[in-house]
Amino acid sequence: MDLSVQFKGLTLKNPLLVSAGEHGRNGDAICRIADFGPAAITTKTITRWAIPDPHPCYATIRNGFLNCMMGAVLSSEQWFAEEFPKIKAAGILLVANLAGTTPEETAELAQEAVAAGADIIELPTHCPHLAENLEAQFPGMKLPPPEINDPKPLYETVKAVRQAISAPIIVKLSPTFHLNTLEWVRAGIDGGMDAVEVADALGPVMLIDIETGQPKLGGPRGFGGLSGGALKPLTLRMVFEIAQNFSIPVIGCGGISTWQDAVEYLMAGATMVAACSAGHQKGPGAYRAILDGLAAYLEKKELTLADIRGLALHRVEERKTKGWQEITQPIPPTVIVEKCTACKLCEPVCIYEAMKVEETAVIEPAKCYGCNLCVDICPQRAIESSYYKEA
Ligand SMILES: Cc1cc2nc3c(=O)[nH]c(=O)nc-3n(C[C@H](O)[C@H](O)[C@H](O)COP(=O)(O)O)c2cc1C
Repeated sequence: MDLSVQFKGLTLKNPLLVSAGEHGRNGDAICRIADFGPAAITTKTITRWAIPDPHPCYATIRNGFLNCMMGAVLSSEQWFAEEFPKIKAAGILLVANLAGTTPEETAELAQEAVAAGADIIELPTHCPHLAENLEAQFPGMKLPPPEINDPKPLYETVKAVRQAISAPIIVKLSPTFHLNTLEWVRAGIDGGMDAVEVADALGPVMLIDIETGQPKLGGPRGFGGLSGGALKPLTLRMVFEIAQNFSIPVIGCGGISTWQDAVEYLMAGATMVAACSAGHQKGPGAYRAILDGLAAYLEKKELTLADIRGLALHRVEERKTKGWQEITQPIPPTVIVEKCTACKLCEPVCIYEAMKVEETAVIEPAKCYGCNLCVDICPQRAIESSYYKEA
C-alpha cells in the first residue's frame, strides 16, 4: 500500500509525523522513534536557551493529556552541533521546530538549522503555559499576555524566515485561535509558509489532586496545556475550515491516537497528520499501530489516500445539493437485530424513553427524537442512522 506524500519536493514515506514533544527531545530519541514508522519526528521547540521543565510534567484525564513542558531543554548550539548530525546520519527526515524572541532571531535560528541539516522548519505560535513558567524561572522577567487576536507578528516572523531560507516552512497554529483561524492562516500564507499544522495544546488548563489539594502539574499554579482526545473535535473543525477555504497543505494534529482518528483528519482535508500525546500515553508503538491500521483500512476498502482526503468537504457540499442542510424532522434509526446483544447501554441514555431492550433493542418511532445518541454509543454498531440517505 503506497502511503507516500509529496511535499515541496520532499517525499514523505507516509502521512504521519510525530509532532513536537518528548519523543523529539534529542537526537537519540528521534533515532529510536524513527523505528516505529513515522515519516518524520519533529524536534521539541529549539530556542537559543536551554530551558528546564517545571516538574511534575504530566497529568491525565480520561480522554486527554496535560503537560507543562517548555521548549527543548537542549540549547540550539547543542542541537545543531551534536543532535542534528546523529539524525542526519540515520537518514531521518528532520523537522526542526524553533522559535526566537524576534522575527530576526527566528530567521537566524532557521538558517542555522537548515545549514545543520533540517529538511523542514516549523514555527510554533503560542504555548499556553510558557510565560508563567519562564517568569518563575527568571525572577523579574515580565512577558506580555499572549497575542491571540492579532496575527500580524506571525506574518512578520514567517516573512523573515522565508527571506532567510528556501526549505519548506510549516506554521503551527494554537487552538486558541479557533474563532479566527482563517485570519491566522492568511497571515502565514502572506508571509510565505508552505503548510499549516493545526494545532498545539490548548490552555492554560489545570487539574487538582483531591487527596492533597495540590495542582497536579508543577510550576507556580500548576497550569499546562491540554492535548489528546479531548482536543480532537476542536482541531478537526479547524482543519476542515482551513481546507474549505485555502488550498495550502494542512497537517491535522490533536488527539490522534488511533488510525480512525487519522482517517477523520484526512477526510476533513488534511494532507498529513501528526500525533504526540498518543505516543506518550501508549508508548511509541501507537505510531506504528496508526500506520498499520490506516494501510489496512485503505486496502480493505480498495481506496487510496487521495480518495479519502477531503471526503467530508464533499459530503458537506452534498448537504446543500440534496436539501440536507437543516433536517428538522426526526428520523428514527434502525436496529440490526442480528448484531444487538441486548447489553442495554442504549436504554437509559434515551432521554425520550423511546428505547426498550428485552431480547433485543426496540425503538418506539412515535417517541423517538432522532437524536442519534443510541447510534453513537452502541458498542456493537447494531443501531444504524437513517440520515443522509436517498429516499
Ligand atoms: C509533552 C508534550 C510536549 C510538547 N512540546 C511541544 C513543543 O516543544 N513545541 C510545540 O510546538 N508543541 C509541543 N507540544 C504540542 C504537541 O506537539 C501537539 O501539537 C499537541 O500535543 C496536540 O497533539 P496531540 O493531541 O497528538 O498531543 C507538546 C505536547 C506534549 C504533550
